[in-house]
Amino acid sequence: MVCIKAMGSRIYLDDMNERLAQEYSDCVKDLMENELVQRLGECPHHMDISRLQHVINVSYYSFLLAEKFGLDTRACARAGLLHDLFFYDYRTSEYGVKHTFVHPRQALDNARTITELSDKEEEIILNHMWPACIHSPRYMETYVVSMVDKYCATFEAANYFCRKLKYSKLFSRKEELK
Ligand SMILES: [Fe+2]
Ligand SMILES: [Fe+2]
Repeated sequence: MVCIKAMGSRIYLDDMNERLAQEYSDCVKDLMENELVQRLGECPHHMDISRLQHVINVSYYSFLLAEKFGLDTRACARAGLLHDLFFYDYRTSEYGVKHTFVHPRQALDNARTITELSDKEEEIILNHMWPACIHSPRYMETYVVSMVDKYCATFEAANYFCRKLKYSKLFSRKEELK
């Protein structure tokens, strides 16, 4: 695994002495090792966070919530990891606002090339932009991944701006001390 931790988590996902890491790995190990999934590490996503780090964040926290509420942990972990499996830069792409509707479809098409998907996993990937989707979700797991996706996007942006603020304060302090 290239990224071995979800942001904000203390658990290393390759630490097989951790029960949660082991259970999570049982769900997604084959996907984590997949070339197409690993290629997401080269795609910028939110601020300076790679798309691979983002999908790991969404996948792991959706898995944790699913475990807490007795939902399908495997579907949440796997579909969470595949929900943004697309390779264009949405900030400069020709799609504009259509990106909201285009990328779930592309992610689903790409996901189908690397693994067999359950009906539930397909729905999670296709409708993860809920409520910006055509059909209302049928599975509770779709709501979970969709909400976690929004939470992670906010957290990733906030984390970036906090780091920027911290460095700019450190920098101006150094300038003062000169
Ligand atoms: Fe997305
Ligand atoms: Fe996402």
